[in-house]
Amino acid sequence: MKKSSVFSFLGIDDLSSDNIDFILKTSALFKKEFYEKGSIIHCINPEQTKGLVVQLLFAEPSTRTRASFEVACGRLGIAITSLWNLHFSSMAKGETLEDTFQCLIALRPDMIVLRCGGFKSAESFLRSSPVPVVNAGLGTMEHPTQALVDAFTIQEKRGKIEGEKVLIVGDVLHSRVANSNLKLLTRLGAKLGMCTPEALSPADKQAWKDVERFDSLETGIKWADVIMCLRVQRERHSLRNIGFSMAEYRDNYRIAQEEMDLFRKDGVLLHPGPAMRGVEISNQAVDDPRCHIITQVENGSYIRSAIVSLMLNLEIKSP
Ligand code: NCD
Repeated sequence: MKKSSVFSFLGIDDLSSDNIDFILKTSALFKKEFYEKGSIIHCINPEQTKGLVVQLLFAEPSTRTRASFEVACGRLGIAITSLWNLHFSSMAKGETLEDTFQCLIALRPDMIVLRCGGFKSAESFLRSSPVPVVNAGLGTMEHPTQALVDAFTIQEKRGKIEGEKVLIVGDVLHSRVANSNLKLLTRLGAKLGMCTPEALSPADKQAWKDVERFDSLETGIKWADVIMCLRVQRERHSLRNIGFSMAEYRDNYRIAQEEMDLFRKDGVLLHPGPAMRGVEISNQAVDDPRCHIITQVENGSYIRSAIVSLMLNLEIKSP
């Protein structure tokens, strides 16, 4: 499989088409081998990962992204050090995130996986890091590894990405997942649509200009092959009056049984998680066989093992 080296992976634009192809194909290989043999270590040369250390720095809450990076590295035989309970780091004493990051760089891990709320000049600061950085969710900017999980899951469940109609529903304004998916899925030939309240529609109108806007969820669902449901990120609304109540949101944007009844029988419902049952998605929709939230979580480990392989330039052996 062809790949070219990537230094830091902060957004989808850092990947060439060959890199994307490598990640999707290597994830499929890892998944198959894991199902057949219960491990993937035989797909690499373990001499290459001996002694490697990946440092995780999570300054925002996470369950699946952090756990899947840990599993992904562990399956490749790479050691992980993890800083995430920042109440027990020097940040609790007032050290800035930038200085915390510099401390971790000084320890020279082989790679840093970073999640944080984003800060002024984050991109240029992170680009100047002498240690490769992978973005595991940066403010409302991008979450490129999640977009790769979503693309992989669409390909797996629908058989292809090209030509697929993907409807993004919910808080697009605050969604780093949506921003990365816009770039990745468009590059892979999917057609995007969105259904979102005006107050939660994307700030960067130019970037989203070719995305079809549906005012009614019903019309959007009848159009879609894939629905990507997003959480309402209330923690990021604190300084804004969003202009509608949660009851109004539920009435107009929640994916529930009624919406699933309108959705094609072989459609795919995705959610990057965490899903707020009863708010943007109902229990019945979560339990519907077309809903693949747990598969997305599972695929997260294979995708992240493939991303780590790309970043650390591991040779992949296809048995
Ligand atoms: C998302 C995130 O943190 O951006 N979750 C994830 O990483 N899978 C979405 C969210 O928080 O709503």
